[in-house]
Amino acid sequence: MNVESEMKTIGRIIPDEYFDALALAEAYTRNAAVAILHQLGLGRNSVGFLPVDIIMERLGVIPQCRHAFLWLLNQAVMENIVVARMVGNSLLYGFNREAFAHGDRTNERWYTDKLPSMFTPTVLLLDHVARHYAAWLRGEQFANVILFKGGALELWERYFSSENYLYRIHNDFAAELLLREVDRVDGPISLLEIGAGTGGATAAMLQALIDVGHNRPVVVEITDISPYLLRRTISRLESLVPPWMELRYRKIDFNEPLNRQGVAEGGTTFVIAVNALHNAADIVGCLRGLRGALADVGGIVLSESLCGADQMVHQEFIFNLLGHRQAGPVRYFQNSLSRFLDTAGWRSVFTDAGLTADVIAGGNRKEIALAAIVR
Ligand SMILES: C[S@@+](CC[C@H](N)C(=O)[O-])C[C@H]1O[C@@H](n2cnc3c(N)ncnc32)[C@H](O)[C@@H]1O
Repeated sequence: MNVESEMKTIGRIIPDEYFDALALAEAYTRNAAVAILHQLGLGRNSVGFLPVDIIMERLGVIPQCRHAFLWLLNQAVMENIVVARMVGNSLLYGFNREAFAHGDRTNERWYTDKLPSMFTPTVLLLDHVARHYAAWLRGEQFANVILFKGGALELWERYFSSENYLYRIHNDFAAELLLREVDRVDGPISLLEIGAGTGGATAAMLQALIDVGHNRPVVVEITDISPYLLRRTISRLESLVPPWMELRYRKIDFNEPLNRQGVAEGGTTFVIAVNALHNAADIVGCLRGLRGALADVGGIVLSESLCGADQMVHQEFIFNLLGHRQAGPVRYFQNSLSRFLDTAGWRSVFTDAGLTADVIAGGNRKEIALAAIVR
């Protein structure tokens, strides 16, 4: 499949303004990371270059948060606030006092200077998480409370919704691919979405079907490991649902066999997975299982964030609170600090799963988003 022509039929190539916006969000995240390290006391009693574990011990960071701390430290390296140096076989980190003194390390000026409203959902969640980060790193707060309790869940919902310019590309890719595929199938269709969460992608897909006047029977079953999230999502989306559509939910853990969770072999027209599958414990096995649920005419509509070898994904500032897991063999991952694969990694997954995939990898300036129909 020629990727260029595929991208044209889908009608969306990531525009330059998206990359510019993303660069701003990444700078914002780096700034927040430096501020958190400073709040923890990094550089207060500077003693030259030290291994990460010693730095953590001195700052009171608990071992369970090592990955997140390392990620923050690398953000500071990108800003030259922290300098990384190999000494023998050890990687050591030192604080660059001069560079730190040079800049304003709060993010407040950004509100007035740089951030248009399209950043609002991203910045609200980043700022909320940033406020609790140091306490979490010291083991004084629980990640689940920070991310999901009180008003935090609303921030989470807005973040994954298509209101968020920096995230909506993943929802749009899924919706557009689905529309194209649905067009190729006659009669009633059934959609099974895994990891549907707060329904950002679900809303985009339902709206797309409504906007094109699909008007044929569609059963949409949204699933997630969290029934609580699903119930909230259903009640938010109910008012959208037209008479020809049935929307329902079911708890499904995609790390467990689907047929033991009430999903019939060959019974689903399209499985949808938007920024969910990278969480699977065995990504290849999981994809094979999802393939087993498909009817002959069907396909898996996959949409994922990407991370290239020398890149960072600002989403991880938030997701690192949930721990760090890479799904399966390390060869699928270009970047040891990321939970996201790159395009080549996904292609290896499809091959290893014995599946075919039409892949659209959007982004000529960096790896951003992948969408694929997998069969
Ligand atoms: C990053 S969110 C996906 C965003 C979602 N597609 C949306 O548009 O809002 C990942 C989702 O996967 C779910 N998840 C994680 N592990 C899972 C598992 N083993 N089985 C099912 N869902 C899982 C999480 O609960 C979360 O809602």
